Amino acid sequence: MNINAALAASLERQETAGEEAWATTFRQMALFDLAADMELGFFLSYYRNFAIPSIAAALHTNAEIQQRPMKRSYDTAIVIYELISSGLDSERGKAMVELLNRVHRNVPGSKDDFLYVLLTLLVVPIRWIQRHAWRQPTSSELMAATRFFSELGTRMNITGMPASYAEAAVFFDRYEAANIAPSDHGQHLMDATVQVFQSRLPEPLRPLAKPLISTMLDDDRLTAALGLPRANVISRTALKTGLKLRNAITRRRPLNQQPHFTPGKAGSSLYPDGYSPDQIGPVNVPHSPARVGNELP
Ligand code: HEM
Repeated sequence: MNINAALAASLERQETAGEEAWATTFRQMALFDLAADMELGFFLSYYRNFAIPSIAAALHTNAEIQQRPMKRSYDTAIVIYELISSGLDSERGKAMVELLNRVHRNVPGSKDDFLYVLLTLLVVPIRWIQRHAWRQPTSSELMAATRFFSELGTRMNITGMPASYAEAAVFFDRYEAANIAPSDHGQHLMDATVQVFQSRLPEPLRPLAKPLISTMLDDDRLTAALGLPRANVISRTALKTGLKLRNAITRRRPLNQQPHFTPGKAGSSLYPDGYSPDQIGPVNVPHSPARVGNELP
């Protein structure tokens, strides 16, 4: 493969990185080498949760997604990128872990539901990269990404974390085989969220948001559960051709000097002047059921 010298040098570092360097290796992968595909993968993992009826029901009941689809979607991405960029144990990272633990305290969900949502953030972007990015992830990157989400899970008190990427993928596939199904809640959430993706597309492509998401997800059972139109040969070929062209350009360009995400910086119309960590997080935070009657506290 003929690639730009700066990309080749970074690839070599990503191939030879030691296990102990997992945080740096994952940061480099997510913010530089494979940044665009990683971000797309995170988008796709977000939609996947809507195809699990119990998770969709919990999200629908809290109504944050329906009421503030833009903020919910961007804030979720910001939480993840803050953790990757600043580090799990940095001040900003700790604030994000605290946010995650606070908002989920009263969310109904099994241990497997939490593990699944966490692993969508690992498996979906990696699979997208393996199928569509300008290069394959290295085995050090697979290990680093797995370790990152395992460390995050530990900080969220999630037990039973898989020991390797392969184990994570097995859990992910088994969970989906048993749990994906259509639900009204899931389809409402998808409808509310499509506009976020639409807003990032060039104007002429906006009406194609749903078929495009469906083609990127490329899984008929999943897209049926989300109420999306089925991908077809034309949409698949168009996506493949577009990505091939993009990859050919990416391989010839030098590595970006600026990271894909900078903590606190303006990155969207939602926070045009930047943001501080305390602006991030849902307005509706699930509460434990209200007490009724005269019972003692
Ligand atoms: C470890 C796995 C999970 C991660 C990493 C995660 C991530 C997040 C993030 C980043 C937020 C904050 C969004 C914001 O800032 O507006 C959030 C909120 C929320 N999450 Fe999760 N989540 C996980 C598991 C789950 C599960 C399993 C459920 C449901 C069963 C769930 C339901 C919710 C709800 C109800 C909120 C409050 C905001 C809303 O209603 O959308 N989460 N989650």
